[in-house]
Amino acid sequence: MSFFSRLSKLHQAVRQFVPEANALYRRQYATGGTQSALDTLTKVAFFGAGGINFGSPEGPWNHSARLEKRLGNNLKVTALIDPSSEHRQHVLKGKARSEFSSAYEGTKEYNNIENYLASISEDEKPDVVIVGVPPAFHGTTKACSDLEMRLSRTLPHAALFIEKPISSAHVQEVKDVGNDLASRKSLVSVGYFMRYLKVVQKMKDLISQHNLTIMATVARYNSCYTSIEKDHWWKKSISCTPIVEQGTHICDLSRYFGGDVNVESVYAHAVEHWEKPGKLSKIPVNENLIPEDDRIPRIASAVWKYENGAIGTITHGINLHGTKYSAELEVHADGWLFRMVNPYCEPKLYVRSPFSEEAEVFDYPQDDPYLTQMSALIDTVHQRDFVDNEIGEGTGRTGDILSSWNDASKSYELTWAIRYATELRETHNELRKSIS
Ligand SMILES: NC(=O)c1ccc[n+]([C@@H]2O[C@H](COP(=O)([O-])OP(=O)(O)OC[C@H]3O[C@@H](n4cnc5c(N)ncnc54)[C@H](O)[C@@H]3O)[C@@H](O)[C@H]2O)c1
Repeated sequence: MSFFSRLSKLHQAVRQFVPEANALYRRQYATGGTQSALDTLTKVAFFGAGGINFGSPEGPWNHSARLEKRLGNNLKVTALIDPSSEHRQHVLKGKARSEFSSAYEGTKEYNNIENYLASISEDEKPDVVIVGVPPAFHGTTKACSDLEMRLSRTLPHAALFIEKPISSAHVQEVKDVGNDLASRKSLVSVGYFMRYLKVVQKMKDLISQHNLTIMATVARYNSCYTSIEKDHWWKKSISCTPIVEQGTHICDLSRYFGGDVNVESVYAHAVEHWEKPGKLSKIPVNENLIPEDDRIPRIASAVWKYENGAIGTITHGINLHGTKYSAELEVHADGWLFRMVNPYCEPKLYVRSPFSEEAEVFDYPQDDPYLTQMSALIDTVHQRDFVDNEIGEGTGRTGDILSSWNDASKSYELTWAIRYATELRETHNELRKSIS
């Protein structure tokens, strides 16, 4: 065994058994020193040649760039799977001209999972598969959208990174996928990147340090609709509504602090496209081409009880112009008020405590939660090879990964509970109209 392997084994073993060491490590790699002496050649396959994996003017996300930063010369992209040859070519031509071109030398292109799995050689089997495709194409047990189950069966050693929302299917389908992944202890990370923000981890540390019981979470998220130019995003039948497609981030973050939600307690209202406050002046697609009952609501507000009796509330809207999204999360406890602002740009945390009525400010201007998220995945892949305890779905252990499939399925369920609750009011209105 090489020196580095022995060092790595010792290092990982310590972190496995000492939670504080784990948290400290997370903070250390989040400080910017990205490439690690412990990294080895890591083979990665990408599903999806779109914005989340390769960058977009809509926002700061770009998983390939974060992997390049973390792995450097240790990154080997073995496959790019996307039905659009135009998208694949666009990505690969750009990468061939980039600083990390060597990572993409020999990247094979496939138009679907069947062709990919049928022709993959032993040597090309990936360590990590990144899935960044629209939710309608994955997250179910049904042939043609059972991507996770097929990958987990055929490539059981590969860690799966799955973007949110983890599906567009019925919640039970998503839970069934979870059971299947757990039967193989697949290692899965879901892209709830906000959990990796330093302000979020700082809040977690303070809550744990002072042994606080959360009383309430109050969340708000407003996105910039003028820069969302994809037709399908504006169709309920495909995007499943903004609360499921996008509000899921802040619902998940609320759950990260409040715990499991009693989904039967959810009440919600939405402003629909046909209501006066729902008129938007700069929709970048031609909404007239979308049937009226397939158009998405503009703002939704919900309130619920957590299983432990605390309450949660969220307002999610698609009403801003420009490109900077705006979001906040408040967490309330006895004597304490935490307020996290601007998770996408210049995140800050304001903390009022029993020690000071003036809020203390924590500021991490260079924080890159997308990078921390990818680093956590890579670290956990390495850890898994060195620790005796298994890490993965169904084991209760996720290494440095902060969002498993099982946990993400509960956030998915919450967003659908909110959507259904907003539609109950609509149904009620329709019913009233029909009998009056
Ligand atoms: N976490 C975040 O901050 C964040 C940000 C943006 C997008 N997302 C999520 O990432 C996912 C993808 O979004 P995007 O912005 O990249 O979309 P996109 O439209 O830019 O790209 C999607 C790509 O997937 C391809 N595709 C479609 N079906 C496929 C299949 N079956 N197999 C392989 N490729 C397929 C399309 O051809 C396209 O190239 C969505 O779920 C979205 O919500 C997350």
